[in-house]
Amino acid sequence: MLRLIAEKIGMMQKIDDIGYLEYQKAVDVIDIVDIFVEEKERRKGYGEKMLSELITQNPDCEFFLEVRVNNLPAVNLYKKLLFEIINIRKKYYNNEDAYLMKKEKKCLKQI
Ligand SMILES: CC(C)(COP(=O)(O)OP(=O)(O)OC[C@H]1O[C@@H](n2cnc3c(N)ncnc32)[C@H](O)[C@@H]1OP(=O)(O)O)[C@@H](O)C(=O)NCCC(=O)NCCS
Repeated sequence: MLRLIAEKIGMMQKIDDIGYLEYQKAVDVIDIVDIFVEEKERRKGYGEKMLSELITQNPDCEFFLEVRVNNLPAVNLYKKLLFEIINIRKKYYNNEDAYLMKKEKKCLKQI
């Protein structure tokens, strides 16, 4: 239901049945809520494509997200797009810690 609402008010980008990127935008701050690529379509560049397109479309925004510390594919994806770890949120996902990551506006030119 949440995803349906998000899609209706334009807070989701989708690549057909391959994956989606869900986010919330408030003025010049974008929170990445979720990114997902179907298992059989992973490692083909779709995740990077969705996220880098959102960044390119919003050059005046800074970006924030939380990610499980042991989610190596996602952490690597975010680091590749110049997100930085700015904090650790203890037990953010029940018993698992999360990184709070941020991408500054000033990094946008480097994409
Ligand atoms: C995270 C996720 C969206 C990445 O999507 P993807 O389309 O497979 O990623 P891409 O092919 O665009 O890869 C881009 C970069 O991400 C990193 N990456 C992706 N998969 C990786 C893996 N299995 N191991 C290590 N790094 C990985 C790499 O840095 C990669 O760049 P490279 O190909 O030059 O090495 C996907 O793994 C996924 O849907 N995971 C389950 C949902 C999830 O955990 N979402 C994150 C919520 S915070």
